[in-house]
Amino acid sequence: MTTKGKIVVTGGTGYIGSHTTVELIQQGYEVLIIDNLSNSEAFIVDRIEQISGVRPSFFEFDLLDQEKMDAFFNQNKDIQGVIHFAAAKAVGESVQIPLHYYRNNLVTMINLLEAMKKHQVVNFVFSSSCTVYGQPDQLPVTENAPVKPAESPYGYTKQVNEAILNDTIKSGANIKGIALRYFNPIGAHHSGLIGELPRGVPNNLMPFITQTAYGIREQLRVFGSDYSTPDGSCIRDYIHVVDLAKAHIVAIERLIKGTNKSNYEMFNIGTGNGFSVFEVIQSFERSTGKKLNYKVVDRRPGDIEQIWADTTIGNKELGWKAEKTLDEMTLSAWQWELNYRNK
Ligand code: WQD
Repeated sequence: MTTKGKIVVTGGTGYIGSHTTVELIQQGYEVLIIDNLSNSEAFIVDRIEQISGVRPSFFEFDLLDQEKMDAFFNQNKDIQGVIHFAAAKAVGESVQIPLHYYRNNLVTMINLLEAMKKHQVVNFVFSSSCTVYGQPDQLPVTENAPVKPAESPYGYTKQVNEAILNDTIKSGANIKGIALRYFNPIGAHHSGLIGELPRGVPNNLMPFITQTAYGIREQLRVFGSDYSTPDGSCIRDYIHVVDLAKAHIVAIERLIKGTNKSNYEMFNIGTGNGFSVFEVIQSFERSTGKKLNYKVVDRRPGDIEQIWADTTIGNKELGWKAEKTLDEMTLSAWQWELNYRNK
């Protein structure tokens, strides 16, 4: 079957990677997934095939393994681009084991860019994060806001990887790159076949809510209600993971078609709306009809108070806009939890 071309998705069995792979296939691309399954499961490849009707090729190896990386690019020619998700991503864990985060997130980025240079792969989309902004001085936060000292080794690896990409491009390497600065991805594909699969106790709000509602967790702890926000709880820009996935297709096609305005670009990928923790809880109860057991506890160290995106540049330049509502996000997260537990 002729396709629009081959796209490599690192971390493609992960939460955002699997949703992006589904969108790529449905838009006519052939996807080659590279994943070491350190924080995801191989059955997600079956689920991607079940949803899209096409099975992506899957290569299980670690991007730290330069030999396997080289063999992969020797065996797979005519690659149109790489979308790089593979990374360790738990903020709290990164404080406990920084050396693992620095090696895993930075060396894999360096290996990948070196392999792309060697094998003449040009187009690169990088999974970055709004974490690079810290607590912005002004809200909504634009791409021109200053990058602040990172609050965690995880956040710092995102900042350093943006610089690694930009400096590599500025050095004259034949690479074009787009960094997508995600806000808070939540929710799941409407099929309920793929979704967020945190290992152990979830760090993030949404999986903790759905696991509490299912009965796996006793009670949700709300980390603080004494912030200077309307209801006292922290505000974030939650974005449906399918909206986020679609932004990656637009970004890689921008590079493939050459409509990028410079060889290194970065875009905020959020909705432009901020919602508090209490508003997310209210949305979950409204959309699912489930009452949530929660209590307010002390603030979580490292949390910023409030952030939401100025999406003007991303909307205009990418011609992309998030569409799904908070209720669609919380309901789809619940439907995934139900399907996964009852599988
Ligand atoms: C959201 C809000 C918590 C859990 C981080 C990274 C970001 C990305 C997503 C990887 C905060 C509150 C949470 C709980 C709670 N990482 N909360 N009880 O910290 O905004 O972003 O995860 O892709 O780069 O920075 O997301 O979901 O952990 O927290 O009250 O049990 O929910 O205090 O206000 P965060 P989060």
